[in-house]
Amino acid sequence: MVLVTNFYMPTRVIAGSGSLATIGTVARDLKMSRVLVVSDPVISAQGFHAAALDALAEAGIATERFDEVGIDARCSHIDQQGGRVRRAAIDGVICIGGGSVMCTGKGIAIVATNDKPMAECTGVGSFDKRALPMIMVPTTAGSGSEVSQWTIVKDEERHLKLLGGGPLSFPDAAILDPVTLASLPMRVAALPAVDALTHAVEAYVSAIGSPITDALAIAAVRLQHGSLRASINSDDEGARADNLIASCMANIACGNARLGHGHALSLPMEGHLDLPHPYGVGILLPEVLAFDLAVLPHKVRPLAEALEVDTTGLSRAECIAAASDAVRDLYRDIAFPLKFTSQQLPRDRVAEMARRAVPGLYAGIAARDYDPATARPDTIIACPSARKMTVAQAEAMLSELCA
Ligand SMILES: [Fe+2]
Repeated sequence: MVLVTNFYMPTRVIAGSGSLATIGTVARDLKMSRVLVVSDPVISAQGFHAAALDALAEAGIATERFDEVGIDARCSHIDQQGGRVRRAAIDGVICIGGGSVMCTGKGIAIVATNDKPMAECTGVGSFDKRALPMIMVPTTAGSGSEVSQWTIVKDEERHLKLLGGGPLSFPDAAILDPVTLASLPMRVAALPAVDALTHAVEAYVSAIGSPITDALAIAAVRLQHGSLRASINSDDEGARADNLIASCMANIACGNARLGHGHALSLPMEGHLDLPHPYGVGILLPEVLAFDLAVLPHKVRPLAEALEVDTTGLSRAECIAAASDAVRDLYRDIAFPLKFTSQQLPRDRVAEMARRAVPGLYAGIAARDYDPATARPDTIIACPSARKMTVAQAEAMLSELCA
């Protein structure tokens, strides 16, 4: 059967050591004259942040700053800054930071032109004006938000993680310079990198992927797995550059093939428990990978080999087990956990979390009035993975991962 594929990625990507110096030129190319530079308190104190501001000034671009982004992109920040952008006639948003900074900036760019609160810009097709021009400078090799049309924001009042965006909110340019990763402590660097690995794997096992997304996803896994240890545990600038590009490729893949069970199961835990996103999706990855590969015989060896498994003489089932073990070995080497702590996922909340995952990563956004109490054990969790997962299977997987 010939499937119709739809691949879209309009963001200009500039990558490599020293690429941050181009930011003034890139901003000028986008006709920016007065920009809001969004960051967080740690990144805004780094030398490369000051260098980026200098490059913008040299290009004749006026800058205003918002440096207060925290762990999550918050609707309250986005709404406040969106109003500021409109009042100050700011014509571009530049994000220098990790996923929460880029999601905050993307949200600001959306609400600035659409003139309504972020909470009303979530879901699909909820706004109709193009966001302000955006330049993304990721400082973690992970979220891939720099090439994503989506923003994930936290509604603090309703304790919900919400997804907003669409083709009108693709970033215009992404600058991937490994200098931005140099200041990260090891533990901080590991979290987004693991998130990126989940993006690549979940895109690869998606039922709506294509040869284009498969090629990007498998190359991202290979590059990520080959560079992650050195990127995190040493000063290897080449490994960091590889890591940034792998993360970017992973997100181009999942931006088109979507994400799967790891993200669908993690989302309710992130909203209702105190669980940061990379822990949720990362701890689930070895199990999710094995679950989905079980129905994708032609994808088993390519994925295992991208994870540097020697598949010679191994059966398909052994390849799957070895691929999961390769991820676990990587986690041990970068000090990433294999199980949820009792605080992150209390055993007595497992059944509830499995039921809350039913609407899935994308459908769940539109199903805010969904009642988890009505989900039976055989209810299917909605996501585009090749294999369908029931509530009972999700519950078993989560139980297995409790400390
Ligand atoms: Fe993610």
